[in-house]
Amino acid sequence: MILAKGYATLGPKNPLGPFQFERRSPRENDVVIDVAYCGVCHSDIHQARDEWGGSIYPMVPGHEIVGTVSKVGNGVSYFNVGDLVGVGCLVDSCRECTSCHEGHEQYCQNGMVGTYNSVERDGHTPTYGGYANKIVVREEFVLKIDPKLNLAATAPLLCAGITTYSPLRHWKVGAGQKVGIVGLGGLGHMAVKFSKALGAETVVFTTSESKRKDAERLGAHQVILSTQSEQMGTLANSFDFILDTVSAPHDINQYLSLLKRDASMVLVGVPTQPLAVASTSLILSRKNLSGSLIGGIKETQEMLDFCAKHGIVSDIEIIPIQKINEAYERVLRSDVKYRFVIDMKSLG
Ligand SMILES: NC(=O)c1ccc[n+]([C@@H]2O[C@H](COP(=O)([O-])OP(=O)(O)OC[C@H]3O[C@@H](n4cnc5c(N)ncnc54)[C@H](OP(=O)(O)O)[C@@H]3O)[C@@H](O)[C@H]2O)c1
Ligand SMILES: [Zn+2]
Ligand SMILES: [Zn+2]
Repeated sequence: MILAKGYATLGPKNPLGPFQFERRSPRENDVVIDVAYCGVCHSDIHQARDEWGGSIYPMVPGHEIVGTVSKVGNGVSYFNVGDLVGVGCLVDSCRECTSCHEGHEQYCQNGMVGTYNSVERDGHTPTYGGYANKIVVREEFVLKIDPKLNLAATAPLLCAGITTYSPLRHWKVGAGQKVGIVGLGGLGHMAVKFSKALGAETVVFTTSESKRKDAERLGAHQVILSTQSEQMGTLANSFDFILDTVSAPHDINQYLSLLKRDASMVLVGVPTQPLAVASTSLILSRKNLSGSLIGGIKETQEMLDFCAKHGIVSDIEIIPIQKINEAYERVLRSDVKYRFVIDMKSLG
Protein backbone atom coordinates (compact mmCIF):
# COMPACT_ATOMS: atom_id res chain seq x y z
CA MET A 1 0.00 0.00 0.00
CA ILE A 2 1.03 3.59 -0.60
CA LEU A 3 0.15 6.12 2.07
CA ALA A 4 -1.31 9.22 0.43
CA LYS A 5 -2.42 12.55 1.80
CA GLY A 6 -4.90 14.99 0.40
CA TYR A 7 -8.09 16.91 1.13
CA ALA A 8 -11.48 15.27 1.51
CA THR A 9 -15.04 16.04 2.50
CA LEU A 10 -16.91 13.72 4.86
CA GLY A 11 -20.43 14.77 3.86
CA PRO A 12 -22.49 17.13 1.69
CA LYS A 13 -22.48 19.94 4.22
CA ASN A 14 -18.87 19.56 5.40
CA PRO A 15 -15.96 21.72 4.28
CA LEU A 16 -12.94 19.95 2.80
CA GLY A 17 -10.06 19.23 5.17
CA PRO A 18 -6.82 17.22 5.46
CA PHE A 19 -7.23 13.46 4.91
CA GLN A 20 -4.83 10.51 4.90
CA PHE A 21 -5.66 7.37 2.94
CA GLU A 22 -4.20 4.38 1.12
CA ARG A 23 -3.57 3.94 -2.59
CA ARG A 24 -2.98 0.45 -3.98
CA SER A 25 0.60 -0.65 -4.63
CA PRO A 26 1.22 -0.50 -8.37
CA ARG A 27 -0.06 -3.56 -10.22
CA GLU A 28 1.55 -4.77 -13.44
CA ASN A 29 -0.11 -2.13 -15.64
CA ASP A 30 -0.18 0.74 -13.13
CA VAL A 31 1.60 4.08 -13.15
CA VAL A 32 2.27 5.90 -9.85
CA ILE A 33 2.04 9.68 -10.29
CA ASP A 34 3.31 12.40 -7.97
CA VAL A 35 0.58 15.00 -8.41
CA ALA A 36 1.94 18.50 -9.09
CA TYR A 37 -1.31 20.38 -9.77
CA CYS A 38 -5.03 19.67 -9.83
CA GLY A 39 -7.69 21.91 -11.38
CA VAL A 40 -10.93 22.73 -9.57
CA CYS A 41 -13.95 21.82 -11.72
CA HIS A 42 -17.51 22.88 -10.95
CA SER A 43 -18.33 19.15 -11.01
CA ASP A 44 -16.14 18.81 -7.89
CA ILE A 45 -18.54 21.15 -6.09
CA HIS A 46 -21.69 19.46 -7.43
CA GLN A 47 -20.39 16.08 -6.21
CA ALA A 48 -18.78 17.20 -2.91
CA ARG A 49 -22.19 18.69 -2.00
CA ASP A 50 -24.14 15.70 -3.36
CA GLU A 51 -26.08 17.90 -5.78
CA TRP A 52 -26.43 15.05 -8.32
CA GLY A 53 -27.26 12.42 -5.66
CA GLY A 54 -25.41 9.20 -4.81
CA SER A 55 -22.17 10.80 -3.59
CA ILE A 56 -19.70 8.51 -1.82
CA TYR A 57 -17.89 9.78 1.33
CA PRO A 58 -15.21 10.39 2.34
CA MET A 59 -14.62 12.07 -1.04
CA VAL A 60 -11.29 13.30 -2.35
CA PRO A 61 -12.36 15.31 -5.42
CA GLY A 62 -10.23 16.33 -8.39
CA HIS A 63 -10.09 15.11 -12.00
CA GLU A 64 -7.81 17.64 -13.68
CA ILE A 65 -4.56 16.03 -12.59
CA VAL A 66 -1.01 16.64 -13.83
CA GLY A 67 2.25 15.39 -12.38
CA THR A 68 5.31 13.22 -12.82
CA VAL A 69 5.58 9.45 -13.04
CA SER A 70 7.42 8.22 -9.93
CA LYS A 71 7.06 4.44 -10.40
CA VAL A 72 5.73 2.01 -13.02
CA GLY A 73 4.50 -1.60 -12.83
CA ASN A 74 6.47 -4.37 -14.60
CA GLY A 75 4.08 -4.52 -17.54
CA VAL A 76 3.99 -0.80 -18.27
CA SER A 77 5.35 -0.10 -21.73
CA TYR A 78 4.28 3.40 -22.60
CA PHE A 79 5.53 5.43 -19.60
CA ASN A 80 8.84 5.90 -17.80
CA VAL A 81 9.75 7.36 -14.43
CA GLY A 82 10.07 11.13 -14.83
CA ASP A 83 7.48 11.52 -17.63
CA LEU A 84 5.04 14.43 -17.38
CA VAL A 85 1.52 12.97 -17.42
CA GLY A 86 -2.12 13.77 -16.87
CA VAL A 87 -5.25 12.01 -15.61
CA GLY A 88 -8.76 13.21 -16.36
CA CYS A 89 -12.24 12.13 -15.30
CA LEU A 90 -11.93 8.38 -15.76
CA VAL A 91 -9.41 5.81 -14.51
CA ASP A 92 -10.87 2.57 -15.91
CA SER A 93 -13.68 1.05 -17.99
CA CYS A 94 -14.63 -2.50 -19.09
CA ARG A 95 -12.29 -2.17 -22.13
CA GLU A 96 -14.51 -4.73 -23.95
CA CYS A 97 -17.79 -3.11 -25.00
CA THR A 98 -18.40 -1.35 -28.32
CA SER A 99 -17.94 2.11 -26.80
CA CYS A 100 -14.60 1.10 -25.25
CA HIS A 101 -13.45 -0.51 -28.50
CA GLU A 102 -14.34 2.62 -30.40
CA GLY A 103 -12.33 4.81 -27.99
CA HIS A 104 -15.35 6.29 -26.20
CA GLU A 105 -14.57 4.86 -22.76
CA GLN A 106 -16.59 7.65 -21.14
CA TYR A 107 -19.69 5.97 -22.59
CA CYS A 108 -18.64 2.45 -21.49
CA GLN A 109 -21.81 0.32 -21.59
CA ASN A 110 -20.71 -1.42 -18.40
CA GLY A 111 -20.01 1.85 -16.60
CA MET A 112 -16.75 3.76 -16.61
CA VAL A 113 -14.79 4.12 -13.36
CA GLY A 114 -14.68 7.80 -12.38
CA THR A 115 -11.45 9.23 -10.98
CA TYR A 116 -13.30 9.91 -7.70
CA ASN A 117 -16.78 9.43 -6.25
CA SER A 118 -16.87 6.06 -8.01
CA VAL A 119 -15.90 2.43 -7.33
CA GLU A 120 -13.25 0.30 -9.00
CA ARG A 121 -14.19 -2.56 -11.34
CA ASP A 122 -14.27 -4.88 -8.29
CA GLY A 123 -17.56 -3.15 -7.44
CA HIS A 124 -16.64 -1.89 -3.98
CA THR A 125 -13.23 -0.15 -3.68
CA PRO A 126 -13.82 3.62 -3.70
CA THR A 127 -11.77 5.84 -6.01
CA TYR A 128 -10.09 8.99 -4.70
CA GLY A 129 -9.23 11.95 -6.90
CA GLY A 130 -6.49 14.45 -7.49
CA TYR A 131 -6.64 16.75 -4.45
CA ALA A 132 -3.81 14.55 -3.21
CA ASN A 133 -0.06 14.09 -3.41
CA LYS A 134 -0.15 10.73 -5.25
CA ILE A 135 -2.42 8.71 -7.52
CA VAL A 136 -2.14 5.19 -9.00
CA VAL A 137 -3.75 4.66 -12.42
CA ARG A 138 -3.77 1.97 -15.15
CA GLU A 139 -1.50 3.13 -17.96
CA GLU A 140 -4.28 3.03 -20.58
CA PHE A 141 -5.96 5.92 -18.74
CA VAL A 142 -2.85 8.10 -18.38
CA LEU A 143 -2.10 10.90 -20.88
CA LYS A 144 1.24 12.27 -22.06
CA ILE A 145 1.89 15.98 -21.61
CA ASP A 146 4.23 18.01 -23.79
CA PRO A 147 6.89 19.63 -21.53
CA LYS A 148 6.64 22.87 -23.50
CA LEU A 149 3.14 23.53 -22.11
CA ASN A 150 2.90 25.36 -18.77
CA LEU A 151 2.18 22.42 -16.45
CA ALA A 152 -0.19 24.14 -13.99
CA ALA A 153 -2.20 25.71 -16.83
CA THR A 154 -2.41 22.32 -18.56
CA ALA A 155 -4.26 20.66 -15.64
CA PRO A 156 -7.71 22.07 -16.60
CA LEU A 157 -7.36 20.63 -20.11
CA LEU A 158 -7.95 17.17 -18.58
CA CYS A 159 -11.63 18.02 -17.98
CA ALA A 160 -12.60 21.55 -19.07
CA GLY A 161 -10.44 21.13 -22.19
CA ILE A 162 -11.63 17.75 -23.41
CA THR A 163 -15.28 18.40 -22.46
CA THR A 164 -15.40 21.36 -24.84
CA TYR A 165 -12.99 20.07 -27.52
CA SER A 166 -14.90 16.80 -27.98
CA PRO A 167 -18.32 18.25 -28.99
CA LEU A 168 -16.70 20.96 -31.13
CA ARG A 169 -14.95 18.19 -33.09
CA HIS A 170 -17.86 15.75 -33.11
CA TRP A 171 -20.21 18.38 -34.58
CA LYS A 172 -17.41 19.43 -36.99
CA VAL A 173 -17.13 23.06 -35.99
CA GLY A 174 -14.82 25.04 -38.25
CA ALA A 175 -14.25 27.93 -40.63
CA GLY A 176 -17.33 29.53 -42.15
CA GLN A 177 -19.51 28.69 -39.14
CA LYS A 178 -20.97 30.88 -36.44
CA VAL A 179 -20.64 29.28 -33.01
CA GLY A 180 -22.13 30.37 -29.67
CA ILE A 181 -20.56 29.58 -26.30
CA VAL A 182 -22.92 30.02 -23.35
CA GLY A 183 -21.27 30.81 -19.97
CA LEU A 184 -17.70 32.03 -19.61
CA GLY A 185 -16.38 29.86 -16.78
CA GLY A 186 -13.78 27.08 -16.74
CA LEU A 187 -15.40 25.12 -19.59
CA GLY A 188 -16.62 28.18 -21.46
CA HIS A 189 -13.26 29.93 -21.69
CA MET A 190 -11.66 26.75 -23.09
CA ALA A 191 -14.51 26.43 -25.60
CA VAL A 192 -13.82 29.96 -26.85
CA LYS A 193 -10.13 29.17 -27.34
CA PHE A 194 -10.88 25.94 -29.24
CA SER A 195 -13.68 27.40 -31.36
CA LYS A 196 -11.39 30.23 -32.41
CA ALA A 197 -8.47 27.86 -33.11
CA LEU A 198 -10.80 25.75 -35.29
CA GLY A 199 -11.56 28.85 -37.36
CA ALA A 200 -15.19 29.49 -36.37
CA GLU A 201 -16.75 32.91 -35.79
CA THR A 202 -17.24 32.72 -32.03
CA VAL A 203 -19.90 34.51 -30.00
CA VAL A 204 -19.89 34.45 -26.18
CA PHE A 205 -23.11 34.66 -24.18
CA THR A 206 -22.45 35.74 -20.61
CA THR A 207 -24.42 37.01 -17.63
CA SER A 208 -21.34 38.92 -16.41
CA GLU A 209 -20.73 42.28 -18.09
CA SER A 210 -17.37 42.32 -16.26
CA LYS A 211 -16.14 39.42 -18.46
CA ARG A 212 -16.63 41.25 -21.79
CA LYS A 213 -12.98 42.34 -22.22
CA ASP A 214 -11.68 38.90 -21.26
CA ALA A 215 -14.03 37.21 -23.72
CA GLU A 216 -12.64 39.40 -26.51
CA ARG A 217 -9.07 38.72 -25.45
CA LEU A 218 -9.77 34.97 -25.44
CA GLY A 219 -10.91 35.19 -29.07
CA ALA A 220 -14.63 36.04 -29.12
CA HIS A 221 -15.74 37.97 -32.20
CA GLN A 222 -18.82 39.18 -30.35
CA VAL A 223 -19.89 39.20 -26.68
CA ILE A 224 -23.58 39.28 -25.81
CA LEU A 225 -25.03 39.95 -22.39
CA SER A 226 -27.67 37.22 -22.31
CA THR A 227 -29.93 39.28 -20.05
CA GLN A 228 -30.46 41.81 -22.87
CA SER A 229 -33.35 40.26 -24.78
CA GLU A 230 -33.37 42.92 -27.50
CA GLN A 231 -29.83 42.12 -28.61
CA MET A 232 -30.56 38.39 -28.35
CA GLY A 233 -33.54 38.88 -30.70
CA THR A 234 -31.37 40.35 -33.45
CA LEU A 235 -29.41 37.06 -33.61
CA ALA A 236 -32.39 34.74 -34.29
CA ASN A 237 -31.78 31.83 -36.72
CA SER A 238 -28.11 32.71 -37.31
CA PHE A 239 -26.03 30.10 -35.46
CA ASP A 240 -24.59 26.83 -36.83
CA PHE A 241 -23.78 25.44 -33.37
CA ILE A 242 -24.20 26.44 -29.72
CA LEU A 243 -22.36 24.89 -26.75
CA ASP A 244 -23.99 25.48 -23.36
CA THR A 245 -21.62 25.24 -20.36
CA VAL A 246 -23.88 26.77 -17.71
CA SER A 247 -23.87 25.08 -14.29
CA ALA A 248 -27.22 26.41 -13.00
CA PRO A 249 -30.87 26.42 -14.18
CA HIS A 250 -31.45 28.85 -17.09
CA ASP A 251 -33.71 29.30 -20.11
CA ILE A 252 -32.35 27.27 -23.02
CA ASN A 253 -35.23 28.19 -25.35
CA GLN A 254 -33.73 31.63 -25.88
CA TYR A 255 -30.62 29.93 -27.29
CA LEU A 256 -32.50 27.36 -29.38
CA SER A 257 -34.21 30.30 -31.13
CA LEU A 258 -30.78 31.49 -32.29
CA LEU A 259 -29.97 28.27 -34.20
CA LYS A 260 -30.34 27.99 -37.99
CA ARG A 261 -32.60 25.27 -39.41
CA ASP A 262 -31.19 21.76 -38.67
CA ALA A 263 -28.44 23.18 -36.43
CA SER A 264 -27.49 21.76 -33.02
CA MET A 265 -27.22 23.00 -29.48
CA VAL A 266 -25.21 20.78 -27.15
CA LEU A 267 -25.40 20.81 -23.36
CA VAL A 268 -22.27 20.10 -21.33
CA GLY A 269 -23.28 22.01 -18.18
CA VAL A 270 -25.10 19.89 -15.59
CA PRO A 271 -27.59 22.04 -13.65
CA THR A 272 -29.15 20.25 -10.71
CA GLN A 273 -32.71 20.90 -11.94
CA PRO A 274 -34.22 19.68 -15.25
CA LEU A 275 -34.31 22.33 -18.00
CA ALA A 276 -37.63 23.14 -19.69
CA VAL A 277 -37.76 22.82 -23.49
CA ALA A 278 -40.68 24.23 -25.51
CA SER A 279 -41.44 21.73 -28.31
CA THR A 280 -41.78 24.58 -30.77
CA SER A 281 -38.18 25.62 -30.03
CA LEU A 282 -37.14 22.44 -31.87
CA ILE A 283 -40.06 21.74 -34.21
CA LEU A 284 -40.29 24.96 -36.12
CA SER A 285 -36.88 24.68 -37.77
CA ARG A 286 -36.06 21.00 -37.16
CA LYS A 287 -33.42 21.90 -34.57
CA ASN A 288 -31.37 19.47 -32.48
CA LEU A 289 -30.69 19.46 -28.75
CA SER A 290 -27.97 17.10 -27.55
CA GLY A 291 -25.45 16.50 -24.77
CA SER A 292 -21.84 15.41 -24.47
CA LEU A 293 -19.76 13.84 -21.70
CA ILE A 294 -16.02 14.63 -21.42
CA GLY A 295 -14.14 12.62 -24.13
CA GLY A 296 -12.39 9.28 -24.63
CA ILE A 297 -8.72 8.65 -23.91
CA LYS A 298 -7.59 8.76 -27.54
CA GLU A 299 -9.40 12.03 -28.12
CA THR A 300 -8.03 13.49 -24.87
CA GLN A 301 -4.49 12.78 -26.11
CA GLU A 302 -5.42 14.32 -29.48
CA MET A 303 -6.71 17.43 -27.64
CA LEU A 304 -3.48 17.71 -25.57
CA ASP A 305 -1.42 17.43 -28.77
CA PHE A 306 -3.66 20.04 -30.45
CA CYS A 307 -3.01 22.35 -27.45
CA ALA A 308 0.76 21.82 -27.67
CA LYS A 309 0.65 22.62 -31.39
CA HIS A 310 -1.48 25.75 -30.99
CA GLY A 311 -0.02 26.92 -27.64
CA ILE A 312 -3.38 26.59 -25.87
CA VAL A 313 -3.64 26.28 -22.08
CA SER A 314 -6.15 27.43 -19.47
CA ASP A 315 -6.19 30.87 -17.82
CA ILE A 316 -5.62 29.98 -14.19
CA GLU A 317 -5.34 31.25 -10.63
CA ILE A 318 -3.06 29.04 -8.54
CA ILE A 319 -4.13 28.41 -4.94
CA PRO A 320 -2.71 26.47 -1.98
CA ILE A 321 -4.98 23.58 -0.99
CA GLN A 322 -5.82 25.35 2.27
CA LYS A 323 -7.85 27.85 0.17
CA ILE A 324 -10.06 25.20 -1.45
CA ASN A 325 -13.27 25.97 0.48
CA GLU A 326 -12.93 29.67 -0.31
CA ALA A 327 -12.27 28.79 -3.97
CA TYR A 328 -15.54 26.80 -4.11
CA GLU A 329 -17.47 29.84 -2.89
CA ARG A 330 -15.79 32.03 -5.50
CA VAL A 331 -16.64 29.55 -8.31
CA LEU A 332 -20.27 29.68 -7.18
CA ARG A 333 -20.18 33.48 -7.45
CA SER A 334 -18.67 33.18 -11.00
CA ASP A 335 -15.62 34.93 -9.51
CA VAL A 336 -12.80 32.98 -11.13
CA LYS A 337 -10.57 33.80 -14.09
CA TYR A 338 -10.99 31.17 -15.34
CA ARG A 339 -9.91 28.09 -13.41
CA PHE A 340 -8.52 27.55 -9.93
CA VAL A 341 -5.57 25.16 -9.88
CA ILE A 342 -4.27 23.69 -6.62
CA ASP A 343 -0.50 23.67 -6.18
CA MET A 344 0.04 20.32 -4.46
CA LYS A 345 3.32 21.48 -2.88
CA SER A 346 1.06 23.28 -0.38
CA LEU A 347 0.15 19.87 1.11
CA GLY A 348 3.63 19.92 2.65
N1 LIG B 1 -20.52 17.28 -19.67
C1 LIG B 1 -19.39 17.05 -19.04
O1 LIG B 1 -18.68 16.08 -19.34
C2 LIG B 1 -18.91 18.01 -18.00
C3 LIG B 1 -17.56 18.07 -17.67
C4 LIG B 1 -17.14 19.04 -16.75
C5 LIG B 1 -18.05 19.89 -16.17
N2 LIG B 1 -19.37 19.77 -16.48
C6 LIG B 1 -20.38 20.68 -15.92
O2 LIG B 1 -20.34 21.89 -16.67
C7 LIG B 1 -20.79 22.98 -15.84
C8 LIG B 1 -19.78 24.10 -15.92
O3 LIG B 1 -18.56 23.73 -15.28
P1 LIG B 1 -17.40 24.80 -15.08
O4 LIG B 1 -16.37 24.11 -14.29
O5 LIG B 1 -17.09 25.47 -16.35
O6 LIG B 1 -18.17 25.85 -14.11
P2 LIG B 1 -17.90 27.39 -13.87
O7 LIG B 1 -16.46 27.69 -14.02
O8 LIG B 1 -18.58 27.72 -12.60
O9 LIG B 1 -18.66 28.12 -15.11
C9 LIG B 1 -20.05 28.13 -15.24
C10 LIG B 1 -20.47 29.47 -15.85
O10 LIG B 1 -21.89 29.43 -16.06
C11 LIG B 1 -22.43 30.75 -15.95
N3 LIG B 1 -23.50 30.71 -14.95
C12 LIG B 1 -23.40 30.33 -13.65
N4 LIG B 1 -24.59 30.44 -13.04
C13 LIG B 1 -25.47 30.89 -14.00
C14 LIG B 1 -26.87 31.19 -14.00
N5 LIG B 1 -27.60 31.06 -12.88
N6 LIG B 1 -27.43 31.60 -15.16
C15 LIG B 1 -26.70 31.74 -16.27
N7 LIG B 1 -25.36 31.49 -16.33
C16 LIG B 1 -24.76 31.07 -15.20
C17 LIG B 1 -21.29 31.65 -15.50
O11 LIG B 1 -20.76 32.28 -16.68
P3 LIG B 1 -21.05 33.84 -16.99
O12 LIG B 1 -20.51 34.59 -15.82
O13 LIG B 1 -20.27 34.04 -18.25
O14 LIG B 1 -22.51 33.98 -17.20
C18 LIG B 1 -20.27 30.66 -14.95
O15 LIG B 1 -18.98 31.20 -14.99
C19 LIG B 1 -20.98 22.37 -14.45
O16 LIG B 1 -22.35 22.06 -14.27
C20 LIG B 1 -20.14 21.10 -14.50
O17 LIG B 1 -20.59 20.12 -13.59
C21 LIG B 1 -19.81 18.85 -17.38
ZN1 LIG C 1 -14.71 18.31 -14.50
ZN1 LIG D 1 -16.81 -0.60 -21.88
